[in-house]
Amino acid sequence: MAHDSPVAGSNLRTVEGIFLVIRKPSSSGALQKKLKKAAMRVMKNAHAPYSKFRVGAAILLTNGRIFSGCNVENASYGMTNCAERTAIFTAVAELGPKIEIQAVAVTNDHGIACSPCGACRQVIYEFGPDATVFFQGADGPKQAQIKELLPEGFRFQ
Ligand code: THU
Repeated sequence: MAHDSPVAGSNLRTVEGIFLVIRKPSSSGALQKKLKKAAMRVMKNAHAPYSKFRVGAAILLTNGRIFSGCNVENASYGMTNCAERTAIFTAVAELGPKIEIQAVAVTNDHGIACSPCGACRQVIYEFGPDATVFFQGADGPKQAQIKELLPEGFRFQ
């Protein structure tokens, strides 16, 4: 029988007197690299004939799964879907709405500063209020919590 433990940052359970510490997945250097690589790879699939600005995004879920997405533009410009939302919607379509985003990586083919747009910040927040976002800042690679990028994000609960 397993018992819940209040130990922060881990799932500590006793199984017939044996203590098991199950580490929560972390955004370690290796994971960060893997996430950025997935974002770079998917960027090639972008449909960006109007802006000529290809973007790739990859999300790491708390269950360890990684999903990626690219921007998909449209002749009716407002119908464009950003890379971040493509990745998130793909994960929801595959796993359902209970996904929890732990981290997001965003890349672009111009190597210029590019953080998630306002709409994507709100969508990241919906599924990952504690998510870390890796992106290209004005002075190089940068990371920030979604709560810093979207103060007072909207949610129903
Ligand atoms: N874009 C993204 O996909 N993600 C971002 O974080 C910023 C902007 C896309 C939307 C559009 O296809 C192109 O980049 C130019 O705005």
